Amino acid sequence: MQGKVIGEGRTAEVLEYAEGTILKLYKDEVPESHVDLEYRISRLVHAQGVNTPQPHERVMEGERHGIVYQQIPGPSLLKLMDGKPWLILSCLRQMAALHYSLHQLEGVGEAGEQKQRLEHNIIAAPMLETGEKSQILSHLARLPDGKKLCHGDFHPDNILMDDKLWVIDWMTAVTGNPAADVARSVIMFRIGAMPERASLFTKAFIGFARQRMTAQYIRKYLKCSGLTRADIEPWILPVAAARLVEGLSIPEKELLVREIRKRLRALPREQ
Ligand SMILES: Nc1ncnc2c1ncn2[C@@H]1O[C@H](COP(=O)(O)OP(=O)(O)OP(=O)(O)O)[C@@H](O)[C@H]1O
Ligand SMILES: [Mg+2]
Repeated sequence: MQGKVIGEGRTAEVLEYAEGTILKLYKDEVPESHVDLEYRISRLVHAQGVNTPQPHERVMEGERHGIVYQQIPGPSLLKLMDGKPWLILSCLRQMAALHYSLHQLEGVGEAGEQKQRLEHNIIAAPMLETGEKSQILSHLARLPDGKKLCHGDFHPDNILMDDKLWVIDWMTAVTGNPAADVARSVIMFRIGAMPERASLFTKAFIGFARQRMTAQYIRKYLKCSGLTRADIEPWILPVAAARLVEGLSIPEKELLVREIRKRLRALPREQ
């Protein structure tokens, strides 16, 4: 029943399946429990009325775990922005408004607790000293808890568009403070490795584009939510540290560590 590959992320390949559906087939290293969790959270979020592809079935294809979802016949925002760069700023504004609309919902029971997830990942993070980790953990403990639905990986490749926007990829959803969820998107826009052989001019251009994109996204989110930059900024430190556990390239991890150390130096002394 499987057809051609139509997408790929860090955890799975996505293939055409029966009429109107796709099969998300997970890579071997993804634990079965994580696939089950994505299935359960996706069902709960779909039942809450969120625009997310309907999860139809949890399946096995040989040894591999999969989920059959409703197919969305449109590109991801990343693909759209890549092909039509003049749409980038409008896509970012729509993305921020969509993010805010998710944050109106209460967290779903199956999702983990945000601070616990961050704490767990900070403790496991490579490249940081133990003393640095304890400073980050005590900073995190002081930040305000929340009870809202947070996606945990809200970036332009996890949003699909046909005549409306659809959010996919709920494995990392948590219940928590929306400001932390926004901080994660901000880090993903702001910090990314540069192509190794790019000229200084290209690097400067990418740097400028990143700043513009981040500014556009934050401005719109703050406008929708009434939050201020001061609500988002303190989350950058713990969220950046927790991101070090992900399968990023070494240059990208080094950029994160540099940002983390800059922010640690700026913490008030008693922290
Ligand atoms: N329901 C769907 N309908 C159409 N295309 C889809 C659907 N789900 C996923 N895709 C395509 O497959 C790509 C990868 O899917 P998905 O984000 O679920 O994988 P992932 O491995 O969990 O990603 P990540 O790297 O964000 O963890 C998407 O960006 C999209 O292009
Ligand atoms: Mg994805």
